[in-house]
Amino acid sequence: MTQQLLVELQDVSVKAKSRQVSEGVFLLQCIDLSIRQGEWISVLGMNGSGKSTLCKLLAGIHPFEISGAVLVGAEGKRSDILPGAAPIVMQHPDAGLIGSTPWEDVVLMLERHGFPEKEIINRAEEALYEVGLGERLHQKIETLSGGQKQLAAIAGCLAVAPSMLLLDEPTAMLDAEASAYVLSRVRRLHESGVTVVWVTQLVEELNALDRVLLLDKGRIVFDEPAHHLFSGGESGQSPGEHYGFVPPYGVQAARELMNRGIVLKPMPINRRELEQAVKHYGS
Ligand SMILES: Nc1ncnc2c1ncn2[C@@H]1O[C@H](COP(=O)(O)OP(=O)(O)O)[C@@H](O)[C@H]1O
Ligand SMILES: [Mg+2]
Repeated sequence: MTQQLLVELQDVSVKAKSRQVSEGVFLLQCIDLSIRQGEWISVLGMNGSGKSTLCKLLAGIHPFEISGAVLVGAEGKRSDILPGAAPIVMQHPDAGLIGSTPWEDVVLMLERHGFPEKEIINRAEEALYEVGLGERLHQKIETLSGGQKQLAAIAGCLAVAPSMLLLDEPTAMLDAEASAYVLSRVRRLHESGVTVVWVTQLVEELNALDRVLLLDKGRIVFDEPAHHLFSGGESGQSPGEHYGFVPPYGVQAARELMNRGIVLKPMPINRRELEQAVKHYGS
């Protein structure tokens, strides 16, 4: 069954409004994009490619001048601002947190969104358990690790039941272990039905079957599964490499194996996928 359409952008271009900062410069250009319920979308792009602008547009917070059509909901209601704005988890683990404990933070988020008093406690606890912070509800925020802070911020977003979870480079300030943990937690949320937009500059964070939107200079230059990112390409160069991304280890190893006649399909992107593909090769 086709999943419900949450958002559709038709030929959307975005310009800065501020007179001070590069007025008239396009931050996004000619964006055509549909997002359906339950999708996982990895938004990939170098610094300045427009990833955060796209997130803000999807969140309905945009001090921008917009042209084109932004349609929301199943019936395609035309709108130039997305109602029921989805909250964004930002890069910096302290950016979105205002409470002194994870529990207080999520409760404040729910209060700000006008949830009825009698629902708040249950919703807050449920969201915190869902991200794996059930044992740390009342721990002081400053004693949490960066990864735990990001999970608290994610719980705050989840609790208000947004149409999608927007994460703008949520692992950029985390070490490898914390990054992997946060990513695996969000993957689990996705498996339970949450629509996820995961913004990153790191190809290692992609799964082969993710839908990848690659942004370059404010344009979507690639909208395909991740396993196509480092294969083919008209000039003999894959789209990923054409736009400056170094093939991750999984891809490099898969290419080596391909040279020896062992073809892994779909092409693995990360180490975990490579290990799985090798283990199940030929079976
Ligand atoms: N409010 C703004 N006014 C003017 N220029 C902006 C504004 N926000 C971002 N930009 C510029 O737009 C481009 C895209 O920015 P951004 O969406 O933050 O990219 P990314 O998140 O991929 O690094 C950058 O060149 C940035 O400097
Ligand atoms: Mg950004």
